[in-house]
Amino acid sequence: GQLEKGGYPHFMLKEIFEQPDCIHDCMRGRINVEGTNVVLSAVIDYKEKLLKANRFIIVACGTSWHAALIGKHLIESFCRIPVEVEYASEFRYRDPVISEDDVVIAISQSGETADTLAAVELAKSKGAFIYGICNAIGSSIPRATHTGSYIHVGPEIGVASTKAFTGQVTVLTMLALTLAKEKNSISQEEFLNVVHELNQIPEKMKKILENNDKIAQLSKIFTYAHNFIYLGRGYSYPVALEGALKLKEISYIHAEGYPAAEMKHGPIALIDAEMPVVVVATQNGMYEKLISNIQEIKARKGKVIAIVTEGDEVVKNIADYCIELPETIECLDPLVATVPLQLLAYHIAVCKGMDVDQPRNLAKSVTVE
Ligand code: G6P
Repeated sequence: GQLEKGGYPHFMLKEIFEQPDCIHDCMRGRINVEGTNVVLSAVIDYKEKLLKANRFIIVACGTSWHAALIGKHLIESFCRIPVEVEYASEFRYRDPVISEDDVVIAISQSGETADTLAAVELAKSKGAFIYGICNAIGSSIPRATHTGSYIHVGPEIGVASTKAFTGQVTVLTMLALTLAKEKNSISQEEFLNVVHELNQIPEKMKKILENNDKIAQLSKIFTYAHNFIYLGRGYSYPVALEGALKLKEISYIHAEGYPAAEMKHGPIALIDAEMPVVVVATQNGMYEKLISNIQEIKARKGKVIAIVTEGDEVVKNIADYCIELPETIECLDPLVATVPLQLLAYHIAVCKGMDVDQPRNLAKSVTVE
């Protein structure tokens, strides 16, 4: 009822707005108050297992699979351990090559997704060490794993996952940092910088949420669309996938997320004056490249909605619409850049009169194949 939604019209909007508090809860007791250290206790308890691994394999479905892609980038950069990301449903039926030297990380909000649970059981039977990253305490996947970390974002009711995604990415960041420190694969300076920046994320999310009305206004323009493209690179490529998935799930607009540089190998053919393109173009690593991608879209009359860093003047001059984000470091971009895309999908769906908390054909947790 209305009471449970805390005054919000939908659970999804409530859960989007809860994110600053959720990320704070997720970090509580794991990052010290000074913001100078991070300890994920399961990583410390099992550090021998984790450090001697040949590789990590992350298995997940849906939004959790997008978090896994960000986890791969984080763990590879900070820990220099190779990471593979697999759809649980593909992994389980492929007779995958797994051994005792592999660590399998299973990511699942509900902890009940049938394919992810089956992937865990399979990897366990082959002797792999299994680490869970889940939200629902005591659910099946945490019970089937050797160890793990809960994301502690509270119950998620909206079918489209929002706060669980940012919670998963936060835990993956803390996992990579804790392990990198144990492995000495990160400099003390970088470690301190990432922990410091991670601590600022809840406040930065609050600033983004202040743009809610602006994003609601912008959404009205795009209710006509039948297609959307989302582009990002590096850490923001999974953000593009997640933005597109949110839109599909609740507004029923067809959307494709793509790594921006792959656009020229196909999707660019789709661009015309009717095509909105959301580009995550924050002022980090791939910024210059994304500017050229935006120019290529504008040359074909596509409508560009750019997600930019506060104060950006270059993209503002070429994009049709801009949503500003507070500045953060590149590896934490997903934690800020995802929030406006959640709001964009939400408001477009509301404008179209869709039932955002209970989208057609979708279940919160897919417990059967
Ligand atoms: C369903 C939900 C998605 C979710 C996916 C994986 O498709 O609708 O929001 O991302 O399952 O769920 P899990 O609980 O394993 O994260």
